[in-house]
Amino acid sequence: MDISDLILDVQDLHVHFPVFGGIIPRKKASVHAVDGVSFTLKKGETIGLVGESGCGKTTVGRAIVNILRAMNYRVDVSGRAFYHHESGIVDLLALRRKGMRSYRSDLQMVFQDPYSSLNPRMTVGQIIEEPLTIHTKFVQAERQERVRWLLAKVGLSSEHAGRYPHEFSGGQRQRVGIARALATNPKIIVADEPVSALDVSIQAQVINLMQDLQEELGLSYIFIAHDLSVVRHISDRIFVMYLGEIVESGPSEEIYRHPLHPYSKLLLSALPRPNPTVRRERGSGLRGDLPSPLNKPSGCAFRTRCPIASPSCAEQTPPLEFRDGRFVACPYSE
Ligand SMILES: Nc1ncnc2c1ncn2[C@@H]1O[C@H](COP(=O)(O)OP(=O)(O)OP(=O)(O)O)[C@@H](O)[C@H]1O
Ligand code: SF4
Ligand SMILES: [Mg+2]
Repeated sequence: MDISDLILDVQDLHVHFPVFGGIIPRKKASVHAVDGVSFTLKKGETIGLVGESGCGKTTVGRAIVNILRAMNYRVDVSGRAFYHHESGIVDLLALRRKGMRSYRSDLQMVFQDPYSSLNPRMTVGQIIEEPLTIHTKFVQAERQERVRWLLAKVGLSSEHAGRYPHEFSGGQRQRVGIARALATNPKIIVADEPVSALDVSIQAQVINLMQDLQEELGLSYIFIAHDLSVVRHISDRIFVMYLGEIVESGPSEEIYRHPLHPYSKLLLSALPRPNPTVRRERGSGLRGDLPSPLNKPSGCAFRTRCPIASPSCAEQTPPLEFRDGRFVACPYSE
């Protein structure tokens, strides 16, 4: 791959949240929410980040847009997130609030819950205009012109600008969330389960809209979901996460049709399949709960739920190895 194709290069990302306890609060332990995650994102590409609830997807997204330290100043973030922009390469994770200011508008998030992520006391026009007031020097007339343009881009009309979020349906609210994220002309969008809270009938419309916008505006997406079937069509490559680690990654169709890691296989078998021509072992699915990231199993973190685990799986963490056109962290999978 040509380095000029890259927009983001994340290397060995770790995010630990301290846990405090006792009468005099003292650090007791750390939640290893993200434990050595690496991936790249190319210009115009979509990568899908999938895994069960609590595996660290949102934390990866927040680390990249560099808002973790502002949310929890005790968080421990390490690793590199190289952002390739027009004038050079910068490690986002090394930037503090002031240094991040120049890049903040290039990286935006779209949130899962369109009901709670929009301020109910602001009109839709004000919600979309706010980032323009913060990040640009546009005068009011320019901001309003841009708000009208953005509303049209997401399939709403300028009459909607004066209305409040509660007057909209879930799908329309997510369109507002997308318009707000697009306001400052970003390059990378982290979409954190953007359709999970929507009716299935509406999900495809929002995904199609995101794909159209990507093509037109040349955006790169990190698309987070707990359901592989949601990311399959929109993603070029998929990264499967388990307990803060990537256990398998590769081209979307490869992973979907022929998963290798036992976790990916179970994640897929737990899904209702719209396509009956694709074979799968029935009656499998994931058993047991995700172990606590406070106390990860030794060796392969998946071994407590893995149907083919052997005693040697407790000894060392299997590295990601390239096999059958993808990276997989299990030497016993086939
Ligand atoms: N601010 C925080 N303080 C302490 N622990 C946190 C914090 N944020 C996340 N965690 C922990 O980090 C782990 C990963 O959480 P995260 O929200 O990233 O998972 P997720 O994959 O996005 O899950 P979901 O699908 O439920 O959104 C969880 O164990 C969570 O409890
Ligand atoms: S390394 Fe062992 S426990 Fe881990 S996924 Fe492979 S077989 Fe299962
Ligand atoms: Mg999440």
